[in-house]
Amino acid sequence: MEKQQKSSHVVLVMVNFQGHITPMLQLASILHSKGFSITIVHPEFNSPNPSNHPEFTFISIPDKLTESHFSDKDAASPVWSLNKNCAAPLQQCLEKILHSLHHIAAVIYDTLMYSAQTITEDLGLLGIVLRTGSATTMLFYPAFSQLDEEHFVYEIKSPELEALQLKRLRALLSQNATKAMTEVRVAFANVLKRSSAIIVNSMEFLELEALSKVKQYFPAPIITIGPLHKFAPAVCSSLLTEDDKCISWLNKQAPKSVIYVSFGSIANIDKQELIEIAWGLSSSKQPFLWVVRPGMVSGSEWIESLPNGFEESVGERGCIVKWAPQKEVLAHAAVGGFWTHCGWNSTIESICEGVPMLCRPFFGDQYLNTSSICNVWKIGLEVQNLERGNIERTIKRLMVDMEGNGIRKRAIDLKEKAAFYLMEEGSTSCSLNMLIKRILSV
Ligand code: UDX
Repeated sequence: MEKQQKSSHVVLVMVNFQGHITPMLQLASILHSKGFSITIVHPEFNSPNPSNHPEFTFISIPDKLTESHFSDKDAASPVWSLNKNCAAPLQQCLEKILHSLHHIAAVIYDTLMYSAQTITEDLGLLGIVLRTGSATTMLFYPAFSQLDEEHFVYEIKSPELEALQLKRLRALLSQNATKAMTEVRVAFANVLKRSSAIIVNSMEFLELEALSKVKQYFPAPIITIGPLHKFAPAVCSSLLTEDDKCISWLNKQAPKSVIYVSFGSIANIDKQELIEIAWGLSSSKQPFLWVVRPGMVSGSEWIESLPNGFEESVGERGCIVKWAPQKEVLAHAAVGGFWTHCGWNSTIESICEGVPMLCRPFFGDQYLNTSSICNVWKIGLEVQNLERGNIERTIKRLMVDMEGNGIRKRAIDLKEKAAFYLMEEGSTSCSLNMLIKRILSV
């Protein structure tokens, strides 16, 4: 593929949640490797470390977010405030860049920073949205914005989409939706409808039916460039320090014996849930690598609420860390299962390494990803409740029992399909070319 001239400048508007930082930096790194100069504009909270990416220019804009925005039970609250507070500084920032460079080839913004769309449009710039979740999640947006819900979402006849149980999930996601949540969802739908292109971190074959349906709805071209972590593997994007000691621990475990447990960067559990998970892991008799982020257990600093006798019962069979090098962990020969919250990055990383999943969604797109994993691709099982006996049984069903044979095999098959897709000249470089053409079109 041709390298572009360095003068083609792309501004990426990032939102500093871990699951959003990573794909945005990976996309930045891919575009940079194709010759684009990159400026990353981001809110102040959770600022990424610019010294990890000397090739990019970072500009931080004031967000006026406080602790209370994040402790709010309503997950949409910080997103709503972020857009309200960052709109004016973002506009000034883009105007300043335009003034000094005279040209911005494109502005690529995260769906969460939906206010960037109108600003970009007003400045006459090309606006492209990066959807960091699955393409399937976009099926819900017309429904959430009450555009043509009945016609669009439920008139779906394909077995693959029926298996997703969209009606049940739609009801689940609508339960107790706050005003901020509804507004944010409508804004997501509008931004996807009005952007010049939609980039999705996915692989075409994974979400064929959903993609063909959403392509009918959204006028902008949908460009699936994924999995981004395979195109830009060296990008350093963790907000927490990765504990590499778990790799030496993994090196001592038998092939495919370890269940890796991580609920991503946002989900929290309470003390009783921590205790149930601990005993469930202990009695499963499988070796386990468990990520417990500091502050992840409500009211605790770290793992001080683990029950008495737990450490003695598991001994060397368990390893608990604050943050793991997840992609390396999933690719390790000792890992045979991943108990995940089903964030999209974790889902796609696990698929690429052929690791079957136990699913415990906490909010938002994680329910839909769970449905894809368990009902469409059939490479995982849902952990129905966090009770120790149930946890023990579900781990054994996935990792040891005959019942898990099919799931484990399908996970390997999907990994092979992904590897084949990545090797194929056509699909991936074709998407990237399409994006580059789009960026250079104005
Ligand atoms: C959030 C939302 O929760 C999720 O639903 C949405 O799809 C994306 O944004 P998050 O909870 O962080 O994301 O989950 P996920 O999307 O899985 O991203 C977590 C990232 O952190 C992954 O790239 C994973 O590799 C990384 N990670 C996680 C580590 O590097 N180490 C860890 O110990 C845990």
